[in-house]
Formats: sequence, structure tokens, C-alpha cells
Amino acid sequence: MPAIVLVGAQWGDEGKGKATDLLGNRIDYVVKFNGGNNAGHTVVIEQPDGSREKYALHLLPSGILTPGVVPVIANGVVIDLAVLFEEIDGLNARGIDTSRLLVSSNAHVIAGYNKTLDKVTERFLGSRRIGTTGRGIGPTYADKMSRIGIRVQDLFDESILRQKVEAALDVKNELLVKMYNRRAIEVDETVQELLQYVERLRPMVRDTSLELAQALDRGDTVLCEAGQATLLDVDHGTYPYVTSSNAISAGACTGAGIPPTRIDSVIAVLKAYTTRVGEGPFPTELLDDSGEFLRKTGAEYGTTTGRPRRCGWIDTVIGRYAARVNGVTDFVLTKLDVLTGLERVPVCVAYDVDGVRHDEMPVSQSDFHHATPIYEELTGWFEDISHARRYEDLPEACREYVEFVESRIGARISVIGVGPGRDEVVVRHDLLENR
Ligand code: IMP
Repeated sequence: MPAIVLVGAQWGDEGKGKATDLLGNRIDYVVKFNGGNNAGHTVVIEQPDGSREKYALHLLPSGILTPGVVPVIANGVVIDLAVLFEEIDGLNARGIDTSRLLVSSNAHVIAGYNKTLDKVTERFLGSRRIGTTGRGIGPTYADKMSRIGIRVQDLFDESILRQKVEAALDVKNELLVKMYNRRAIEVDETVQELLQYVERLRPMVRDTSLELAQALDRGDTVLCEAGQATLLDVDHGTYPYVTSSNAISAGACTGAGIPPTRIDSVIAVLKAYTTRVGEGPFPTELLDDSGEFLRKTGAEYGTTTGRPRRCGWIDTVIGRYAARVNGVTDFVLTKLDVLTGLERVPVCVAYDVDGVRHDEMPVSQSDFHHATPIYEELTGWFEDISHARRYEDLPEACREYVEFVESRIGARISVIGVGPGRDEVVVRHDLLENR
């Protein structure tokens, strides 16, 4: 059976949980292949007494909640061990079994010095800051590329670990002390901080690429779930206002060691409007009452940082771009109910850059920075759509909106989210159909 990759089509927070919920018990492995605890999803956990508890996960793959699924933290992830065990303990306390979790021996760990550096660098950048989550993600990936990173496997040999921490701190302490006016960090302090988790980590550590290859050979279904989203991808996003990993579908190949020839389908989640956290260009951003309407109605506040998200209308140039760079086979359109009650619904179909129309993403980032959206205004709808379960149940104007967006983005919209609940969806095509 297949390897499926799930990605975000915009700048994150599209609601990937809708797709994972739908695939739910048909999945054998859920793999996180990029990013770290900069992501965030709120999950609702049913208690034995029937009550429901909300729980925010930042690092663990959401599949950890589905009984029988094997959750995997693959090599492309950067791990904050304190957060990992805090989330595991939090779930265990609520009766969730986390014993199946596998962690790649090649994944990198986030050391305390990289969290410090993330924060001081942002402060130093001032108005040029990226607006990072401050979790040490960027500096840890930078270390990986500079070949001074610390991997999970390094924790099992204290003398190797010490050598690596020494090498990293040689440079970082120069920076911290001389540039940022901070105290130097001791090698011992970092080594002890990392070693405290070793015994708990040991039984989880594997060659996860091998485990996944064997799973696919057996006919198991593997879902690779991207953190962040297409326009936050370090190569294909709005650089430098991006995260430091590959969040597009190809990231699953490098980040989990699954070859491209084994990937069968790519599901992209596209919100019915657009949001962004942090800095960077955003052509359809609304700084007026309409933006506030989307933020309030869609509850657009960050799970990780609590920051209010920037909001704007849907942008089909971005949707088409996401379809292309990810090779999308199916879109999941989320939060369509948020648009209910609008007289007219603007859809961005192209950009105007200094009087020139652009139907595709401009080649240069500076053009994208001052692109103004060209909208087509569609008729809105006023009916409550949250009870719709079949496509025909949606009001005609709503279907016209879906079909208009679909025609622009160039891949089928297979699922539509019509409310926050797990089952508040309209399924047009089964996400595992023909795969
Ligand atoms: P970093 O990933 O913490 O380095 O932050 C880089 C950029 O990615 C910032 O603009 C963040 O706000 C954004 N970002 C990181 N993770 C997420 C996410 O899960 N959703 C949305 N934006 C994110």
C-alpha cells in the first residue's frame, strides 16, 4: 500500500488535522519529517469518562493519538528533548499510550545554546527579523548544514558528545559574548542537559528509513506529515521569511529517507482564506475589518506562540504554485464555513506588479513584496453549511466558489471542511481512492 505525503499549501496552520482525522485508522505509520516544535496542533482527547480535553502538541506527530499507528520522528526533524518528553508525559497522564514512538538516530537535537541564539539573533535583526517561533529551529538546522550539529546517536557516546558540544561552543560563545553581550555557555552544562534524556530515548531509536522501507514492502500505509507549509519551505517559500527546512512534499524523501519513486499521492491542505504568522510578504493580507472578521471567525491565533495570525483572502496563484511544486493529487479545502455570511467573496487570481499582470508567482521576491492582488468577486452565501455532508448539500454559491478555486489551482478539491469538528467534512473523493 501507499506512501502518502500531506503538506500545507500556504503559510501554515491550514488545518492538516482534518486530513489526518479522515485517514485515521487506515494509516499504519505517521511520519514527521521536517521542522520541530515550531509547529502546533490542538487535539481533542476523549477521556474514559466521556469528557473531552484539549491538548496542544508541538513536536509529536498527531498519529500518536490513533491506537495502533506507529508514530515516527524521522531524520529531517530537529528535536528539543525536553519538549519531547514533556509531551510524552502529558499524553501518558491522560491515558494515551506512546510506547510505539520511533525516533531516527540521524535526527538532530536542539541544544539550549541554539534556543538562546534564535532569540538574540531576532532581537539583533530588529526590523529585519524573521518573526521566528524562538524555539532554536533555524540555528539547529544551520549547525546541521555547517556539520557541527548534534545528532540523536551522538548522545549515546559521552566522549563524542562532549567533543561535538566543544566544537559548537567554540564558535557560538564568541558570538554570544562578543556580538550579543551574553554570558558564555559551559560545555558541561550543555552535555548534562542533553544526557539527562538518554535512557528514556534509547529504546525508541532506530534507522527509521529502514523501518519505513520494510513497512512499505509489507504493504503498510505510511503517511508523511509536513510541518509548516509550502511558502515557508526554505527553497520554495518566501525566503528569507521561511522556516529552515523543506516543508514541501520532496522534504519527505530527504527528511524520512523514502525515495520519490515510492510516493503515491500528495495531499495539500488549503484554507478557504489565507493566514500567516511572522514577517514577510503576503499580497492578499487585509489590514481592515475584513481581516479582523476572518481572524475572529476563524479563531486565528497561533497554537505555539499565541500570536494573532495575519489574515487575507484566498490566493489561487499560491494554490496553483503549491499544486506544482508539491505534485498535489488532492486538495483538502478547510474552514469554508468561516466565509459564510459574506455578500461577496474575493478570490485572488493574479497579481499586478508595477502595472504588469502576473498569473504565476513573480520570479523575483522583490516583485512579490509589492504585488497587489487582482480579485474576482464571487457571490457569497448565508446558509449554515456546517451540517452539509454531501457536496449537493452545499448552497449553489458555495459550490461555485469551490469549483472556481479548483479550476484555478489545477488539482481536484477532494475534501471540504465545513466546521471545526472531526466529522464536519464533505468528502467528494476518497483520499485513498485508486492509490
Ligand atoms: P521558525 O520556524 O521558528 O524558524 O520560524 C520561521 C517562520 O516560520 C516564522 O515566520 C514562523 O512564524 C513560521 N512558522 C514556523 N512554524 C510555523 C507553523 O507551524 N505555522 C505557521 N508558521 C510557522
